[in-house]
Amino acid sequence: MPKKQLYPVNPDRTEPWNDLPDLPIDPALYRDVEIYEQLGQAKEALALLAGRSIAIPNPAMLINSITLQEAKVSSAIENVFTTDDELYKAVSDSKSDGEAPGPTKEVLRYREALWEGYHYLKEHGRFDRDYFIKLYRIIQESGDGIRPPFARTFIPMGGTGPNAGKPAYTPPRGKGIVEAKLDNLIEFLNSEESQPDDVLLKMCIAHYQFEVIHPFRDGNGRAGRIMNLHIITRNHRLELPILYLSRYILEHKQDYYEYLSGVSQRGDWKSWILYMLRAVEWTSQLTLRKVNDIIVSKEEILQVLREQTDVRRPEDLAEAIFTQPYIKVNHLTDRGLYAENTARNYLNELAELQILEKKVIRGKHYYINPALVEILSY
Ligand SMILES: Nc1ncnc2c1ncn2[C@@H]1O[C@H](COP(=O)(O)OP(=O)(O)O)[C@@H](O)[C@H]1O
Ligand SMILES: [Mg+2]
Repeated sequence: MPKKQLYPVNPDRTEPWNDLPDLPIDPALYRDVEIYEQLGQAKEALALLAGRSIAIPNPAMLINSITLQEAKVSSAIENVFTTDDELYKAVSDSKSDGEAPGPTKEVLRYREALWEGYHYLKEHGRFDRDYFIKLYRIIQESGDGIRPPFARTFIPMGGTGPNAGKPAYTPPRGKGIVEAKLDNLIEFLNSEESQPDDVLLKMCIAHYQFEVIHPFRDGNGRAGRIMNLHIITRNHRLELPILYLSRYILEHKQDYYEYLSGVSQRGDWKSWILYMLRAVEWTSQLTLRKVNDIIVSKEEILQVLREQTDVRRPEDLAEAIFTQPYIKVNHLTDRGLYAENTARNYLNELAELQILEKKVIRGKHYYINPALVEILSY
């Protein structure tokens, strides 16, 4: 007797896949020893990161800089590239600054979407269509929403081979179809009892599903990766969206596309789920290392401030110079830490102690924290 097909495969990647199955999928598709072993490892690594980040007195110090890296790398997956220098400068100048190059602004919009979505879910408690539309509009700086039935959206093959640019996959389309598929995904995300029982497995399945629904004309990769982090925070596996998950995906980009296609073309859920769980494990460890290094580095500087200077409120100053890599006087005055003259004097003093590096770019004075730049760069 032929084996029962657990997952129907997409018959034609050039035609809209309107028969894309709804969630949940059959648990037999992930009931597998290797998957559960890898799930255990991913959960453990994530729990260590969660524990460490709860113990930080001022997590705001981390969330600024670490989410910035996530934004940069998730955008790079979509070939939106910016340099650290441009990015740090733009962050330092705040978003009102119109000078930043297009890709840099795009990266900052990703980070904004990450935060806006996070707050939206805190407020509403549940995923809904508006949540996704919000992400999309911020990422794409656009006023529209779910793609209309006439939009002939498809995912092109990459590379430079003879098939480059031809459809690798064509998402569902037609009146109300995308909305119905998205609503089904939303129900899956909000449901407490539906299979699978673990939220990381849920995230793996939901990310695939979101990408194959491809509800927007563009920005789906980024919106889907932001959603991943929000699935984790909404379920309190992490309190803040600081996991640097896209880093693994960027470094294993070919596999990412391969395994997404593998589900649609062969029903190969196992490879996809294992891939995403490895991403969680690896990036949890990487993020933990960064968090620890930031804390240690800040403590070292605090010690120097206490022993070698007379600055007032040394703890606050040490924390302030780790909230972003390029510090300016107004960052200290805006927080009401010090008066302007005092702030400038302190930053100059830190530069003399070689804790910060003073740099003038287009007439603006920046005080670069090289220790933080180094931690963010690996
Ligand atoms: N074969 C595939 N099946 C489903 N999703 C895919 C496939 N290949 C790529 N993707 C997803 O599509 C995303 C790109 O879609 P796009 O809307 O252009 O997003 P962005 O603008 O953020 O790049 C990729 O990042 C990936 O998540
Ligand atoms: Mg794109």
